[in-house]
Amino acid sequence: MMENIPFWASTNFWKKTAIWVTAGSFVVLIFLTFDTMRQTMAGSVRVPDYTVINRHIDYRYDDRQRRSIPVIGGEAPLFGKIMDASEAEKWVTLGKKTIQAKNCMNCHTLLGNGAYFAPDLTKAWLDPAWGPETVRPQLMKMFLMDPEGNARTYGSGRKMPNLGITEEEAKGIIAFLKWMSSINTNGFPYNFKTGG
Ligand code: HEC
Repeated sequence: MMENIPFWASTNFWKKTAIWVTAGSFVVLIFLTFDTMRQTMAGSVRVPDYTVINRHIDYRYDDRQRRSIPVIGGEAPLFGKIMDASEAEKWVTLGKKTIQAKNCMNCHTLLGNGAYFAPDLTKAWLDPAWGPETVRPQLMKMFLMDPEGNARTYGSGRKMPNLGITEEEAKGIIAFLKWMSSINTNGFPYNFKTGG
């Protein structure tokens, strides 16, 4: 009976196939890992490095790509002075850690992760409700440190609770939000409207 089994149906063939498919997938995964890092790390193709918080960030509709893309403009210091790379990274990292520690994703969405009880924060820095860039960091700081006293609610009736955020942490969050808004997210979140 054994000699009647065609080669493609033999155990030997399937063992070899399994080994080659596993090895092939492994190589593809390594390639994809490096390709993803190239696209997602700060200072890469889509994600500007942290010093972008020294610049003006615009969000404009691109007819060819049919979505809005961030446009990095001229100098616009965040807390009144141009920061070097390590200082910019320090603030953005403090913001990221505070956002993780306070679990903002419980209510908000950042870069596609989180909840939709509250507004998507991915482009929050560009929200026209904050007014001109000159007053924006100050208004954001006041809101983050006392969201109940500075609530706006967009007619939803929902309010953000006071999370006991310090001034230092609020500045970090603002730096993080500004940096995040400069990331080319392929037009996500949809329907985000800028003032212009
Ligand atoms: C319990 C839910 C909840 C948590 C947790 C929460 N928020 Fe909010 N947040 C809200 C709600 C609701 C609003 C909208 C209400 C308002 O604007 O008064 C809001 C609004 C905001 C806005 C304004 C959004 C915009 O488009 O301009 C920012 C910025 C913000 N939150 C940041 C944060 C950060 C940072 C954290 C974590 C430190 C956080 N929130 C945690 C509920 C929450």
